Amino acid sequence: MDTQVVTETEGDQRGRHRLIRVAVAGATGFAGQELIRLLSRHPHATITAATGSQATSTPRSLPALARIWDGTVVPLDPAALVGKADAVFLGLPEAASAEIAPVLLDAGLRVIDLSGAFRLRDEAARARWYPATKALPAGVAYGLTEFELEAIRPARLLSNPGCYPTASLLGLLPLQRAGLLQPGADIVIDAKSGISGAGKAPTERTHFSENHGSVAAYNPFGHRHTPEMEQALGRGVTFVPHLVPLDRGILASLYARLVPGTPAAAVTAAFERDYAHAPFVRLTGDLLPEIKHVAHTNFCDIGWKVDEAGSRVFVVSVIDNLVKGAAGQAIQNFNVMFGLDQKAGLL
Ligand SMILES: NC(=O)c1ccc[n+]([C@@H]2O[C@H](COP(=O)([O-])OP(=O)(O)OC[C@H]3O[C@@H](n4cnc5c(N)ncnc54)[C@H](OP(=O)(O)O)[C@@H]3O)[C@@H](O)[C@H]2O)c1
Repeated sequence: MDTQVVTETEGDQRGRHRLIRVAVAGATGFAGQELIRLLSRHPHATITAATGSQATSTPRSLPALARIWDGTVVPLDPAALVGKADAVFLGLPEAASAEIAPVLLDAGLRVIDLSGAFRLRDEAARARWYPATKALPAGVAYGLTEFELEAIRPARLLSNPGCYPTASLLGLLPLQRAGLLQPGADIVIDAKSGISGAGKAPTERTHFSENHGSVAAYNPFGHRHTPEMEQALGRGVTFVPHLVPLDRGILASLYARLVPGTPAAAVTAAFERDYAHAPFVRLTGDLLPEIKHVAHTNFCDIGWKVDEAGSRVFVVSVIDNLVKGAAGQAIQNFNVMFGLDQKAGLL
C-alpha cells in the first residue's frame, strides 16, 4: 500500500472524508492557482503547503482566491514538504521540476508534474527538448487519463501531458487506434491557444498590446509538443500552434486522411468506443464545439465531420488549457493514483 493516507482535519467542513495531504509548488503561477482553486474544494484533499519560487523572500497570499483558500504561499523548500504531504503537485518551469521531482520521490512522496520534464521516453528527444532532465525516474507514467489508467494507478511520478497534446491526442487517438487513419498520410494539427498557455511572465509575443486584436502562428515544425504527440500516436504530425487574444482555452483543428471509403459511422463508433466511460470527454458529432463551452471546466469537447467520399476527416477538439490542459487533468490523475472517483473535486 502507498503511504497516501491520510489525516482527518478536525472540524473539516467537508465532513468525515479521508483526506489526502497535498502540496502545490508553483502556487503563484497560472496553473498553480488553478490547482489551489480546485483542490481547496476537493472532498478528499487538504492543502498542507503552497509554495512560490525559491527567490520569493516573503510569504504572500493569493488575492484572487480569498475566501476560497486563505492560506499563505511560502518560498519553495523541497525538504520542508517531506512529512507534510502525501502528494506534491509541481506547477513549475521544467528545469525546476527536473531538479525537484527526484528529491521528493526519494523521500517517498508521490509527485504530479505539470511540466514537460518527464514526458518524453526517447532519450535523444528528451535531451533536445528538455535538456535539464537527466533521466526518467522509476515509476513514471504519462498522464493522458483517458488512455493511461493502468499506468497511472501505481505511478510514483505522474507526468501530466502538455495542453496542446491533450486537446490534439484526445481528438486523434480513437481514430488511430481503430485503424481508420491512412498510414503514412500527413496529419495536420492547427491549434489556437489563449495567452495563459505561456505562463504569467509577459513577453513581447504575449504582451497585451501585441496580442490584443491579432492572431499569430508560431514555431511551425519546432514546438516541443510535437514529439510528445508523435510519441503517443506512433507517427509524424504537422503541428502549427497559434496565439489568439483570449486569456484561456485551446481549439485544435485536426485534419487527417482516412483509409479510403471509411463510413462516417466508423468514425463515430471509434469515438464512442474509446470514450464510453470517460466522464470528461463530451462528443458533439457534427455540432462543432467551441472554447466557450469548456472554459473553466475539465471537459474536452470533440466534434467531427467526414467528407462525402469517406477519405478525409476534420476533427475539432476544445479544452481549457489551465484545467483539462493542466490543473484539472492533474487532479483527475491524482484521483486515479489514489483510488478516488475520477470526478472528485472536478465535477
Ligand atoms: N499555462 C498553461 O496553460 C500550462 C498548461 C500545461 C502545462 N503547463 C506547465 O505547467 C508549468 C507551470 O506553468 P504556468 O503557466 O503556471 O507557469 P507560470 O505562470 O509562469 O508560474 C510558474 C510558477 O513556478 C514558480 N517558479 C518559477 N521559477 C521557479 C524556480 N526556479 N523554482 C521554483 N519555482 C519557480 C513561480 O513562482 P514565483 O511566482 O515566485 O515566480 C510560479 O509559481 C510549466 O512547466 C508549464 O509548461 C502550463
